[in-house]
Amino acid sequence: MIDVGQATIDPALFRETLGHYPTGVAVVTAMSEDGIPEGMVVGTFTSVSLHPPLIAFIPARNSRSFARFRDAAAFCINVLASDQEPLCRQMATAGAAKFEGVRWRPGPLGSPVLDGAVSWIECTFEEVREAGDHYIVLGRVQELGVARSTLPLLFFQGGYGKFSTGSFIAAPDPELIQAAQLAVMFREVG
Ligand SMILES: Cc1cc2nc3c(=O)[nH]c(=O)nc-3n(C[C@H](O)[C@H](O)[C@H](O)COP(=O)(O)O)c2cc1C
Repeated sequence: MIDVGQATIDPALFRETLGHYPTGVAVVTAMSEDGIPEGMVVGTFTSVSLHPPLIAFIPARNSRSFARFRDAAAFCINVLASDQEPLCRQMATAGAAKFEGVRWRPGPLGSPVLDGAVSWIECTFEEVREAGDHYIVLGRVQELGVARSTLPLLFFQGGYGKFSTGSFIAAPDPELIQAAQLAVMFREVG
């Protein structure tokens, strides 16, 4: 149990409940001080602000990859495509040769832009704030683009997936449904 002052939270319940929220999957990349490419998988990437252009992600305080690149000049968010699950598993394994066999090119600020990713967003560090056992990293967007307009990789309850084409069919407009119901009602009354 975690004592949180007012309430006591069961860690397993916390993980299970929060795991019911789906996320996309991104690899945050950067060049270390020694000029070595670094990367870590995050499900916590999010858009924050347009004016100014800010994004955020939430690395664990014990992430060795983040420790190696938190002083870099820039970093890049690479949004993974649904066919990049093997790359995701490689980049999420601590201590692995994360870039072995991985094709990438340097972005405008030098951060690795991964081949095959849906989009890339290169940022400078705006703020790194401590938040419990994690940091909240705010990044200021400098350059970005959609490289491959395809289905993104999704993560939900510990498993990977993708949108099915059925979910792209527009949901019926509630106002249209109401109008149709009213029309039927009037027809029946009349
Ligand atoms: C789908 C998915 C999402 C993840 N999201 C995060 C995250 O938001 N923050 C984080 O610190 N680790 C996250 N991880 C775990 C890290 O990617 C991984 O444990 C870490 O990169 C291990 O290597 P490191 O110690 O070199 O950082 C995630 C892993 C997966 C598979």
